Amino acid sequence: MFDVNRVRADFPILSRQVNGKPLVYLDNGASAQKPQVVIDAITQAYSLEYANVHRGLHYLSNLATDKYEAVRGIVARFLNAPSEDDIVFTSGTTEGINLVSYAWAAPRLQAGDEIVLSVMEHHANIVPWHFLRERQGVVLKWVNCDANGDLDPAEVIAAIGPKTKLVAITQMSNVLGTVVDVASICKAAREKGVPVLVDGSQSAVHMPIDVQAIGCDFFAITGHKLYGPSGSGAIFIRPERMAEMQPFLGGGDMIREVTRDTVSYNDAPMKFEAGTPGIVQQIGMGVALDYLMGLGMDRIAAHEQQLRDYARSRLAGLNWLNVQGNSETKGAIFSFTLQGAAHAHDISTVLDKRGIAVRAGTHCAMPLMDHMGVGATCRASFAMYNTEAEVDALISALELCHELFA
Ligand code: ALA
Repeated sequence: MFDVNRVRADFPILSRQVNGKPLVYLDNGASAQKPQVVIDAITQAYSLEYANVHRGLHYLSNLATDKYEAVRGIVARFLNAPSEDDIVFTSGTTEGINLVSYAWAAPRLQAGDEIVLSVMEHHANIVPWHFLRERQGVVLKWVNCDANGDLDPAEVIAAIGPKTKLVAITQMSNVLGTVVDVASICKAAREKGVPVLVDGSQSAVHMPIDVQAIGCDFFAITGHKLYGPSGSGAIFIRPERMAEMQPFLGGGDMIREVTRDTVSYNDAPMKFEAGTPGIVQQIGMGVALDYLMGLGMDRIAAHEQQLRDYARSRLAGLNWLNVQGNSETKGAIFSFTLQGAAHAHDISTVLDKRGIAVRAGTHCAMPLMDHMGVGATCRASFAMYNTEAEVDALISALELCHELFA
């Protein structure tokens, strides 16, 4: 049983007021709030357990190293990866995808090779591939979603041709909430010998993830959306792909030996982790993931689906509001515009005055906005701690916007 009020009590920020009103935090797609266990873990790490990792032989360094390295196993459990050795720590999804671009794709792809991606990708899963287009003549092949925001896996599979070297696809649109059937795409791509990178930045927050069942080669997550600290993250990399990767960042920790004339590298995954990492950030992410697994990702998903259904039906009752994308499978993320002249920024300012936090703009997804023919939207993105009463608060604030701007 998922007790939303008990979960809310774990998040101190949720009991504060903003602009004299109780905070209604609906900007979770941008970054989620942190439970007390994560805040306590960060305080404990900096207050009593901090030193650099992998380097010292002293007590604190060993303690910090043990706590930091234990997170690899926690991430592996969270993603159901076969081994913690398949997990590379990153500062977030953006770094994870850039790592794949620089360390795996750049040395392997040549002019004319293709990368298949959907129009729903976040810029973090577009720009690293544009680098390869600009610098190496790699061709980007785009697959559109339909007017409902659904992405047909068959269209993605059909786009895979003899020159395709990678499919890079989100599992959940950060704008529309559409959930993509990445397992079907991975199965077909595998049969054609094409690796698949899944951007799990949004999806991993809202549903159980099993990278073995998905069958992907790369699966990137970010800690700050998973109720952990910003600057934390990880990427699952299938061992065959990890063996094909060249180091990306050079520096301490990723080396075995350096001489004036030579360098040899540490074993993977540390071969891909140069420099002092986000020690406390990753420790905090580990605590956040344990917290989520304790609550149960399936229970979280069920609560959020109820919330999604309730929000969907309430928003549908506002006939002056256009919700972008209405996929049956969508998560609890709603992007919308108001009919009339009101700009998304004006709407979000009015909502803010009522204590309601949403994101407004193009959501780091300009190709999708272009495809949908909208300049900017407001986005209400729900999390496990949101309630139907908060949906009601959103609806009455939107009614006020309608009165103000109609
Ligand atoms: N990727 C984050 C969002 O969708 C920042 O808002």
